[in-house]
Amino acid sequence: MNYYVMTLFPEMIENGMHTSIIGRAMAKGLLTLQTINIRDFSTRGDGRIDDYPYGGGAGMVMQAEPVYRAYTDLAARIGHRPRLVYLTPQGKTFTQQMAKELALEEDLVFLCGHYEGIDERVLDEIATDYISIGDYVLTGGELPSMVLMDSISRMVPGVLSNQESGETESFSGSLLEYPQYSRPEVWHDTATPPVLMSGHHANVERWRRDQSLYRTLKHRPDLLDGVELDKKDRQFLRGLLEKEPVEQLPLTSGTAAWSGEEGAADPYPVRDAEQKVLRKLLAISNKA
Ligand code: ADE
Repeated sequence: MNYYVMTLFPEMIENGMHTSIIGRAMAKGLLTLQTINIRDFSTRGDGRIDDYPYGGGAGMVMQAEPVYRAYTDLAARIGHRPRLVYLTPQGKTFTQQMAKELALEEDLVFLCGHYEGIDERVLDEIATDYISIGDYVLTGGELPSMVLMDSISRMVPGVLSNQESGETESFSGSLLEYPQYSRPEVWHDTATPPVLMSGHHANVERWRRDQSLYRTLKHRPDLLDGVELDKKDRQFLRGLLEKEPVEQLPLTSGTAAWSGEEGAADPYPVRDAEQKVLRKLLAISNKA
């Protein structure tokens, strides 16, 4: 995988990308990284690449021509016009699935914007993908590009020493990770779950799967929609319902959980998340 990052701050990318697993993969030649300083393609004597927005308004806009030249210069060097990801909060929200798909490319370009954005015309001309890393606004596309490179790199064969770890970790099957424990067996009076000390491989696997199901149900019930549940998974989830009968779960005011006087404080304030979890659990157990 060859990464190319078009940016006004190449040192930010260089400093962030040469350590840990990604650094090791670069040293091994599994990944390469080239930063392209858009400023080097300025069309003006003063080296500037920004100008005032037509129509007025705050801030500056990155001009089309320097960005275009930076890209076409790269395309000429590598002999084709590579896929170009423009990092923007207006893009599609990045997911593990997108990381897997992008990892299939041989060359990937990331375009990092600054100021109030980039002249729309050059984006129309060269951007193939618009990607956001979440619903918040950063000062530029450098950090998002590094987030993408990190997660895409994990999906490149050979980058993770144990390829399996890439497959069993969070999100690959849309379940959150099970909890991990290491030495000492008892830490601050808290023991490691005995099943992990049992040496019984199948029981350990079952326990881990159940923990993943429980965590996902509790923290990200939305993810369960994409998961295939087998008979044992359903059994475990049904078991949760039996432990906490529906009528005892704190739900909405006015339900069986609360029959207090009008206007009195609800002892079980409703939380959307709880409702979602319960609905999900009921849907699963009804299907079983
Ligand atoms: N640039 C600024 N904010 C961003 C975000 N949330 N995702 C991607 N690129 C951005």
